Amino acid sequence: MAMKINESIVSEHVEIKVFLGVVGAIFKQLYNGSPVPKEHLEQIHIFITNYIDSFHHVKEENILFAYLEKYKMYGKDDLVGELKADHTMGRMLITSLTDAIDIYTPDDKELGKEIATTLQLFSSTLTHHICREESELIPYLEESLSDNQKITIEQEYADLQEDFELSKRELSKLEQLVIYYDIDVEACKKC
Ligand SMILES: [Fe+2]
Ligand SMILES: [Fe+2]
Repeated sequence: MAMKINESIVSEHVEIKVFLGVVGAIFKQLYNGSPVPKEHLEQIHIFITNYIDSFHHVKEENILFAYLEKYKMYGKDDLVGELKADHTMGRMLITSLTDAIDIYTPDDKELGKEIATTLQLFSSTLTHHICREESELIPYLEESLSDNQKITIEQEYADLQEDFELSKRELSKLEQLVIYYDIDVEACKKC
């Protein structure tokens, strides 16, 4: 059987989908004008910045997409360009969230709605993005890369993983939010 290399990317997607379940619950609350504890917004901001952007997206950009270029696999050029653009869009939304969360107070319903809208935009972009990576990019890579190329990529994944002990910490905080907002984890994983 051909070797598979992208299981870690897919398992990170599962964590991100569960996280987006939490984001959905927070969106509803804020959008309905209900307050959300400021520390929960700070926690989701940390998860987006540290886990999704600095860990997962950087891993894709610096290793996966970079190797596509290195191995001259131009068949998915447009797709990779679009996926990179989604990452950039995510970063722009993070900047706007950073400023808004910084000044948020639970009695500020208007700002709460603004944050909710940004979170929703982030969430829908990312859901679509993950779906394209899983249905278009990853099957193409698993099929097209040689075993030697896969071993090189896998080694780089492993090295990066070691540098990112913090990602485990982010995941344990995510668990607390999942419990607080009573998120149906299995339903999130399916979407
Ligand atoms: Fe991505
Ligand atoms: Fe991804």
